[in-house]
Amino acid sequence: MVYQYTKNRELFQRALKVIPQGVPGHLGPSNGCAIPFDAFPVFAERAEGTYFWDADGNRFIDYMCAYGPNLLGYGDAEVDEAAVRQLRQGNCITSPHRILVDFAELLTETTGKDWTFFAKNGNDVTTLAVMTARCATGRSKIVLIKGGYHGVAPWTQQFGKPGILEEDVANNIVISWNSAAELEAAIARYPNQIAAFIAAPYHHPIFADSELPADGYWQTVRKLCTQHGIVLIIDDIRCGFRLDIAGSDHYYGFRADLITFCKALANGYNVSALCGVDSLRDAVSDVFYTGSYWLSAVPFAAGIACLTKLKRDGIIAKLRTTALKLQSGLRDVAKQHGRELLITGEPPLWSMRHTGDDDFYFHQSWVSECVRRGVFFTNHHNHFLNAAVTDADIAVTLDIADEAYKAVAVE
Ligand SMILES: Cc1ncc(COP(=O)(O)O)c(C=O)c1O
Repeated sequence: MVYQYTKNRELFQRALKVIPQGVPGHLGPSNGCAIPFDAFPVFAERAEGTYFWDADGNRFIDYMCAYGPNLLGYGDAEVDEAAVRQLRQGNCITSPHRILVDFAELLTETTGKDWTFFAKNGNDVTTLAVMTARCATGRSKIVLIKGGYHGVAPWTQQFGKPGILEEDVANNIVISWNSAAELEAAIARYPNQIAAFIAAPYHHPIFADSELPADGYWQTVRKLCTQHGIVLIIDDIRCGFRLDIAGSDHYYGFRADLITFCKALANGYNVSALCGVDSLRDAVSDVFYTGSYWLSAVPFAAGIACLTKLKRDGIIAKLRTTALKLQSGLRDVAKQHGRELLITGEPPLWSMRHTGDDDFYFHQSWVSECVRRGVFFTNHHNHFLNAAVTDADIAVTLDIADEAYKAVAVE
């Protein structure tokens, strides 16, 4: 039985009348990852553990995890209880609740940095990181990686995209991933003008394979940044707390000056953070930066519970083991159907495609047949694993993957 989406479609028609694009942004169908659209649900009814149920009552084993925030499982009891307790005491208050200090201490200690600044979304803190670097150095240029993603603020986008001015990106220097030589060339071309180098810990572009850092890449980048007074920013919004509790710079054996967190920080409660070294404390203090809900206490309580559970239960190591088991099973099922499933990136955030499928048609067909049967994959974005996935979920996933290959074969 394949899923029907009658109520999803009715809701989408209603949404289109009152919400631009029906569902805007990365959770909506216009982002290019839900192809063909008719295979995917649009609205959820509820979520629990590793599953969500859509508006028609179809259940999905969710390998997107809300694009990252679901790390422990939807509705994790410890996190939700901490959040509810805090809600009863107060959330958005004239003076921030004292739990702000507890969470800042915990995150600062966990990451080995010297201070923490909280906001709401990833984009808030990547932008603050760049502003802090500019304030500290008195320089304007920033180096970014081609195909990287740091949010939606104009500086993160490209000239020519709707609403983006040439001056918004005039100080961006875009270089290739894994090329220390291009960073050196940029430094030589713009001496004493580069404020920051910003990148994710590894490269996970959409519509392309993920690429891990080459041996020694981060160490060379670190050395060049130190030599030339450039602030090294790691954007850990996607990978944060799936690779290393102390941050993905720690995972790859170097230390960033600034690191940004968001998605998995509080298991779905809305909070983001910028952590930094002491030498940037004055600069970040000088930047005017705030928001109505940035110091709300409920997400802080959730974040404390989430980090505490991550550490206590060794969740990150378990995620990796589960991811490897799932991925080796998927590869084997593909092989049984004469296909090669290429899996790239770090295991808890893997990307996948089928080889010999240059137009992605086969891959999109297979993904859509998985989705129609209750395994939520996406076509051209990395996936995310949560800690609630069991061996039984993996077994169901592999059965559905097998059925999906059979369905594609008869299409
Ligand atoms: C690496 C990275 N940086 C920044 C962002 C922006 O975060 P947000 O959407 O919370 O603003 C994202 C979001 O997907 C991301 O993956």
